[in-house]
Amino acid sequence: MTTTARAQGATVWLTGLPSAGKTTVARLLGERLRAEGHRVEVLDGDEIRRFLSAGLGFSRADRNTNVQRIGLVSEVLARNGVLSVVPVIAPYADSREAVRKRHEASATPYIEVHVATPVQVCSERDVKGLYARQAAGQLVGLTGVDDPYEPPVDPDLVLATQHQTPRESADAVHALLVERGLL
Ligand SMILES: Nc1ncnc2c1ncn2[C@@H]1O[C@H](COP(=O)(O)OP(=O)(O)OP(=O)(O)O)[C@@H](O)[C@H]1O
Ligand SMILES: [Mg+2]
Repeated sequence: MTTTARAQGATVWLTGLPSAGKTTVARLLGERLRAEGHRVEVLDGDEIRRFLSAGLGFSRADRNTNVQRIGLVSEVLARNGVLSVVPVIAPYADSREAVRKRHEASATPYIEVHVATPVQVCSERDVKGLYARQAAGQLVGLTGVDDPYEPPVDPDLVLATQHQTPRESADAVHALLVERGLL
């Protein structure tokens, strides 16, 4: 008789400022994990706002609702053996804490990665032009500039992407998953 080990799922939440590198790291990590044969889902904030969170805005309450919905989906996936990678800003500490608690309640692994790129570097990258629009007065409520970002106090990993290539950052997350026995 042969037995097959049940795949171990986990949520890997990448929090950080706009243009910090969350999506870039999530995609590279996802590609690597898939190539290694793992079941992976990347729940990107922008895509989710188009369906699961359609209609939500960027008030504190709506940002929290968005994070709780994504946290619920991710926990369900992770509990069922999927590696769920979540590149979502999640600016409020209490919102992230609620997601962590949801995972703890079902003994589902939860890894918090702070993509800790300084705001100056993010505003130079400005992948979506948000920092320029904020500076020009065309946008208010940009996280880290004129809207709060509460950095994680005790994240599982901190990525200083201003000193790394995207590949190096993704590999650092991969190494942590190995270290935690999740791969
Ligand atoms: N070590 C690194 N890790 C990730 N991205 C990096 C790194 N070094 C440079 N970059 C660049 O920084 C940019 C990050 O953009 P990305 O869309 O991933 O940010 P984001 O955090 O998802 O932003 P948003 O919250 O607006 O979606 C990309 O152009 C990427 O190539
Ligand atoms: Mg992104």
